[in-house]
This record gives sequence, C-alpha cells and structure tokens, in this order.
Amino acid sequence: MRKNEQKPFQSPYTHKKSGKIWLPKNYINFSKEKNRFILIIPQEFVTIEWNKNESCGFMENKNLIDLEAMSVEQLAKIVKKAKKIMQSPADYRHACDGKILATLFYEPSTRTQMSFQTAMLKLGGRTIGFDNPMNSSVSKGENLKDTISVISGYADIIAIRHPTEGTAMAASLYSEVPLINCGDGGHLHPTQTLTDIVTLSCEKGRLDHLKIGVCGDLLNGRTVHSLIKTLAKYEGNSFVLVSTPELCVPLYIIDILEKNGCAYEISNSLADAVTDLDVLYMTRIQRERFKSEEDYQAQKNVFVLDREKLDRAPQDMIILHPLPRVNEITVDIDDDPRALYFKQAQYGMFGRMALILLLLQDEDFLIPARETQVCDLRCNNPKCITRHEAYLPNLSYEKLGMRMCEYCDKRID
Ligand code: CP
Repeated sequence: MRKNEQKPFQSPYTHKKSGKIWLPKNYINFSKEKNRFILIIPQEFVTIEWNKNESCGFMENKNLIDLEAMSVEQLAKIVKKAKKIMQSPADYRHACDGKILATLFYEPSTRTQMSFQTAMLKLGGRTIGFDNPMNSSVSKGENLKDTISVISGYADIIAIRHPTEGTAMAASLYSEVPLINCGDGGHLHPTQTLTDIVTLSCEKGRLDHLKIGVCGDLLNGRTVHSLIKTLAKYEGNSFVLVSTPELCVPLYIIDILEKNGCAYEISNSLADAVTDLDVLYMTRIQRERFKSEEDYQAQKNVFVLDREKLDRAPQDMIILHPLPRVNEITVDIDDDPRALYFKQAQYGMFGRMALILLLLQDEDFLIPARETQVCDLRCNNPKCITRHEAYLPNLSYEKLGMRMCEYCDKRID
C-alpha cells in the first residue's frame, strides 16, 4: 500500500462480544484526528472510524513479550488456569483441536521448546517449527520480518527464542497471530517467570511477602530480569541479589525495585544470604554471553550451593533454578525436599498450557502495550536487534523522563 493511501480497516483482532478492536503490535502508534485514529504502521498509514467516547483497545494486544505490562489480576488468571489444568488435564485434551503452534528457536533449548510443544500436544493441537535456524531459510539470509510474516500465515500462535535482545518485540511487529517471547538474548524470558510464579503459588501458597535470594549471573540471566520485574509488583517482596560485582543486575532492574518500593540487598556471600530466605533462585553463569572464555572462567563456580551452605538455610526455604544447571548446585542436593527445580520445570508446562489457552481462546485476555513512539534515534546497544535488522523502525517509550528502546529496554537518549 502506498503511503497515505487509506484502506477500510479490517482487523482480525476485533473483539467479537464488545466490538472493541485490539490491534497487533505492528500498529505501533496512532494520533487522534476528529473521531479518527491514524494508525502509523512502518511505511503505511491506515485510518479507521472510531467513536472518541468509547474505550480504546489500541494499546492492547495478544503478544507476550514482557510480563511487565501484565496486571497482577492477569497473572493470577494464568496461575488459576494452570492449576485447573493440573487438577483435570482430561478436560483440556481437545481444547486446541485444529490449532497449530510454531516454535521458532534460533537458540538452543530443552525445557522451553519442549514444554511448549508438549503443552500444545496435550491441548489437542499440533506443532511446527525449527530448533536450528541453519536448517531453515535463515541460513540463506532470510530476515526476521520475512520469516515471521510467512510463519504467521501457517500457525495460530508463535513461540520464539533468539540470541539477540528485543527480537521477540521486533517479530511481533510482523506477526498476525499471538507471539510469545521464549527468551531474547540476555534480556527477558517471561514464560520462565510464569513457570516460577506457578511454582511459587503451588509450593509457597503466595506470591507476596516473600524474601527471594537470586544468585549467579544476574547481569546476563534473562530469567532473573523477568522474575524480579514480575515479583516487584507484589506487596512485601524483598530481594537479596547475590553476585560478583561484574555480574550484578542491570541498573534498569534496580530502578524497577526502587520504583516499586521493594527492599533489596546486594551481597557477595551465598553462605550468608541463604540463612534467611523463603526462596533461593540459583542461576547458571551464562557462558554464551561472555566476550571471552577468560572472562567466563573468572566467573564460573564463584557461587555454588552445596550441602554445607544448604545446612544453614531454613527448612521451609525452597530452591528454584530455571535450568540448565552447570555446577552451581551440587548434585547431592537434588534429593533434598527443598530442591524443587525439576518439579518447577513440570509446573512450567502447565503454565504454558494456560497461556496458550488464554491467548487463543479468551477474548478478554489482552496484554496492555506501552505507548510507543517512532523516533529519530537508533538504539546503540550492540546486542539490540535493531543493530542487526536494518529495516526495523526506531521505536521508543518514555520512562522516568528518559527515552528507552522499545526493543531492548536500554536507554537511547
Ligand atoms: N529454563 C530454560 O529456559 O531452559 P531451556 O534453555 O532448556 O529452555
């Protein structure tokens, strides 16, 4: 379509009951003119009729990029649905008959990929996808936009993992179907956090008033970023951040803790931290995110949970780990009743079943999106997808008076 040309608006996302329209994220911006919204799409303008007095669903969508936008009520809805599925899985055996999930894994995975595939199969649906992009046309140079545009014509829902930050958000611009972030570089991993909150709810009976120790690679560990951002929404949660100075959490995560009024301590001693926790969340040192092997060698094995340290911990403290484990928890701890990391991986499958169902079948389950603007500045984070896919529009949002990259959440001004 030529620029400024107008076409009648036909959204596949019209809410069937209320007539309210929600839009895929590629409708990235709009401005009001009389009772029309001008939706600004990369290289396109679309105008639709809209009554100014009606509530507007433009900033909502069906893409799970980051749990930050999700309300506590929506998170509770996922947890509740996951528990219902656990209680009576047979009731959901045909819930997604005829539906197809595409798993596009540009980066290795055991749990996330297979639990999504199992989730869809247990719901009666089917799966397509790749776990090695070199076996797809990505190896011939196909860009992200083209891959997503094509796959979203085949599948009803897409789950994507990629080594570059902001890729899921970028992919959502070109997807016509709900798209789920299964990890984008060292940035975010929202469905791991769903796994974690389903586990916490089932095993601790609450998501609030918890003292959570997170230990390991807090800089590159995307699971940690998503977890802290989400648990910071709940009242009374506090955090002990155990890492080396080189691998401490990014500043934007500290900003979130402070903005939410969460107490936090920074510690360099796992032995000290472990004495007074409800939850210990161990993480792997992310070898693949280091600039050199030498840098990785200096960090590996600094924090190891062994029997001696665990003996200092409360009896009701639970140990979680997103897995894979390398050396950070000794194997002899696996039989301790506090070690729940394998059970956690199973909870994840139920959380993902719940998510698929809500995204595909619950018209009211819409995820609010940030108010995004097209801007002149290009993000200069070398790990951001915008550095690799030249056609992507420069998108930003405002936070605490600063302009942030819509894709990777790094400051751009
Ligand atoms: N926790 C997690 O993301 O594991 P995988 O990398 O195996 O998917």
